[in-house]
Amino acid sequence: MNYRHQFHAGNFADVFKHTVLVRLVRALQRKPVGLLLLDTHAGRGTYDLAAAAQGDSRARTPEWPEGLGRLSGRDDLPAAVAEYLELVRAFDRRRGNADPTPRHYPGSPWLLHAVARPQDRLAACELQPDEFAALRAEFAYERRTTVQLLDGYTALRAMLPPPEKRALVLIDPPFESQDEFALIANGLKEGLRRLPGGTFAVWFPLTERAGVAEFDREGGLRHTVALPPTLVVHLMVNAETSKLKGCGLLIVNPPWQFDQELAPLADWLADALAQAPGGGMELRWLVPET
Ligand SMILES: C[S@@+](CC[C@H](N)C(=O)[O-])C[C@H]1O[C@@H](n2cnc3c(N)ncnc32)[C@H](O)[C@@H]1O
Repeated sequence: MNYRHQFHAGNFADVFKHTVLVRLVRALQRKPVGLLLLDTHAGRGTYDLAAAAQGDSRARTPEWPEGLGRLSGRDDLPAAVAEYLELVRAFDRRRGNADPTPRHYPGSPWLLHAVARPQDRLAACELQPDEFAALRAEFAYERRTTVQLLDGYTALRAMLPPPEKRALVLIDPPFESQDEFALIANGLKEGLRRLPGGTFAVWFPLTERAGVAEFDREGGLRHTVALPPTLVVHLMVNAETSKLKGCGLLIVNPPWQFDQELAPLADWLADALAQAPGGGMELRWLVPET
């Protein structure tokens, strides 16, 4: 496990994933019943953007200026992006940054924590020991939050169904392993067996190497899982296949008519985060809602 999210924190993929994540929570919160918010691959919780330029042995180009950095100074933020940005800025201020340059970036567990209601509950899993130690320290004094040193796919079996009978599950693996898509497919199968109405959001990179075509195209995932209504959205920031050209989210059991909210949001983000010609967004139902 060599992946460290530190170097990518606040990049275009985080902006996209975290903005949509907050929208999903908000939509599910239209019902008053409490929710389990399960983050299977949670990371360390907080990322220091000033340190993100330092690699283990070489300097790296920080990625946040092409993500989070693209949002500052714009006066046309859609409400969903404005809410995400305010959550990020409020977190940064609470950590003591008074400077306009962002410094402390909240990972998915802190964003979920920020939008959780008193009746919601957060469970975050992380398998890499150093990342887990940091995550545990972050949430040591937080109520209604558990953090575990646990394989995220095992968590789907161990934590579902929750007593609340409702859950939003974020599956955000590092894609270091060749069989990550197979692990996800099996994880979704297990998760849906235990909680057929649960909402599952899976992040994936759009690269040739990651074999994405096997995953979300007709027949791929559906060889393994009998899917309920499932939405796929792609955000392409770069048409060159040699680089990470974009990322996607697979949303199983999205809130009702979530596509209508997501389409203009993804359009705006694709435009705001474009790094080269050839970008854009694509949204479609893998299994339509009825
Ligand atoms: C993309 S990062 C997570 C970022 C985080 N979800 C966020 O949005 O802020 C993926 C994380 O998964 C961890 N990880 C790798 N394999 C794992 C596994 N099998 N179970 C749980 N976590 C794992 C990595 O150490 C890494 O911290």
